Amino acid sequence: MSEATALAHPNFALSKYWGKHPAEGNFPAVPSLSITVSGLSTRTNVRFLASCSDDRVVIGGREERGAARTRVTELLQRVRSAAGDRRHAEVISDNDFPTASGLASSASGFAALALAATRAIGLDWDASRVSDLARRSSASAARSIFGGFVELPDVAPGKTAPDQLSARPVAPAEHLPLAVLIAIATDAPKSLSSSDGMRRTLERSPYADAWLTEAPRLHERLRSALLTRDFVAMGELAEASALAMHAAAIAAGVCYWDATTVEALRTVWALRNQGVETYATIDAGPHVKVLSRPADALRIRSALEATPGICRIVEGTVGEGARLVNPEDPL
Ligand code: DP6
Repeated sequence: MSEATALAHPNFALSKYWGKHPAEGNFPAVPSLSITVSGLSTRTNVRFLASCSDDRVVIGGREERGAARTRVTELLQRVRSAAGDRRHAEVISDNDFPTASGLASSASGFAALALAATRAIGLDWDASRVSDLARRSSASAARSIFGGFVELPDVAPGKTAPDQLSARPVAPAEHLPLAVLIAIATDAPKSLSSSDGMRRTLERSPYADAWLTEAPRLHERLRSALLTRDFVAMGELAEASALAMHAAAIAAGVCYWDATTVEALRTVWALRNQGVETYATIDAGPHVKVLSRPADALRIRSALEATPGICRIVEGTVGEGARLVNPEDPL
């Protein structure tokens, strides 16, 4: 049977990927390190059928036709070429959280698609190769193939892009127990994709070079803090990476923040002034992801609940990588 179903979680970068190498193939220009976050999931079913005359892509119950469909069919095409199989596919994907709003649905989406599509067509690739395939569609998706703390290396500007670039696990979830509270600012999709936002940042920001120099340094320091289980240093560096990324982007007129983003950040900073060791990170959307030790999560949640503008709070923890599941399994 040429069918497989995979489940994947989004991941939130502690040190951010923001900016691409100029070579074709979607290579990041800076290294990144993320946590794979359970509590949010994408489930994707892929069926290759001799009877299909074209690929069919259904996301969240809606048949896709435009750019979202093209990104999926490009991945299917890579899989078909590798397998020497010309059959078209039906892809059915569902998220249990808002799509394309800065909650890393492209990361979980392409990780689940890469795993399900390779298995459905009969390619017995290891996780590293599946991660490389996912990266070509969305670089952050490479990291969601793995659980725990995961690193995606860069191809520095001026270096030649390799044939394969995959994410790799750095430490399992138990290495440093974390709570993640996601302050959802809106359910609306973002108006500017990450790809466009990072391209504009590198083209137009007066701080683009500063970001490209600073990001790998922050990444190295964050990696060391993680390996020595220094939660405070890791949190400070994660927040610094997010703020540096957004500062560079905002200077290019690329702003993913809204009033709720600022309010939630202020709540995190106020908690810190009160002695709670908690740190914020923000991706290409207005939501603030708040990191803490598990014991502090309750206090942080009540402070976020009292913060104006937050629609709801989703609680996550560091979770597993992408895996095959039964199509009937609940999300
Ligand atoms: C801010 O992986 O969505 O979340 O490779 O163009 O699909 P593409 O970009 P994407 O960018 C993620 C940007 C980020 C930071 C991160 O996840 O590292």
